[in-house]
Amino acid sequence: MLHKLHRLSACLIGAFIVVHLFNHQLAIGGIDAHIAFMESFRRLYRLPLVEALLLVSVLFQLSSGLYFIKARWGQRHNFFDRLQAVSGAYLAFFLLNHVGAVLFSRSVLDLDTNFFFAAAGIHVTPFQYFFIPYYFLAVVAIFAHLACAFYWLTRERLSLTVRNRVGYSIIILGALLSLLIVLVMSGGLYPVDIPAQYKATYGGV
Ligand code: HEM
Repeated sequence: MLHKLHRLSACLIGAFIVVHLFNHQLAIGGIDAHIAFMESFRRLYRLPLVEALLLVSVLFQLSSGLYFIKARWGQRHNFFDRLQAVSGAYLAFFLLNHVGAVLFSRSVLDLDTNFFFAAAGIHVTPFQYFFIPYYFLAVVAIFAHLACAFYWLTRERLSLTVRNRVGYSIIILGALLSLLIVLVMSGGLYPVDIPAQYKATYGGV
């Protein structure tokens, strides 16, 4: 029952993440494209009922995921089995920080939590040493978790070789997409000029 609910809430969060990550890829074409898409997507996920459902799912996903890690502690023996726990634990850490920071900045600091909000930390020394791996690993962890789900769910239909190959390919694809997102945010594709109010939250000017 708990596994079924975990998968159901993963589908809900997953639907949001697919569009969320697509939104971040749009920044390759420019910050305006990223912000314009986010503003229209917000009309859906910021509807009180939709956002409440998303946030409750995030909380449920975190707690049920951590419960699974504890319940199967010491019983994971192959690569994908271990990766599922490691990527899940990282996602729990990331989601708690990420969603907490978004909600806090929006409601207490009164910031528009847009592209500049996400990228600001990367542009104030020494915070880039935290934020670059923090974002990079988050997107990799999502794809790694997906690869593990694929590996597990196809265990009776596909050969071990095919499951391994597809699993590794999903992770490599995630790493490439993640690299692009982080490269854009850090100003590697075009200059990114962060407004002062965002830098100020890190003590920068
Ligand atoms: C490089 C990667 C990422 C960046 C730059 C990023 C950035 C952002 C930004 C700017 C927001 C605020 C959106 C708004 O104000 O409307 C946000 C919200 C959110 N992000 Fe991410 N995100 C990233 C990856 C992820 C990942 C991997 C997940 C899931 C594991 C995730 C889950 C969420 C959730 C649940 C929200 C809250 C939506 C809400 O209720 O407002 N993000 N993210």
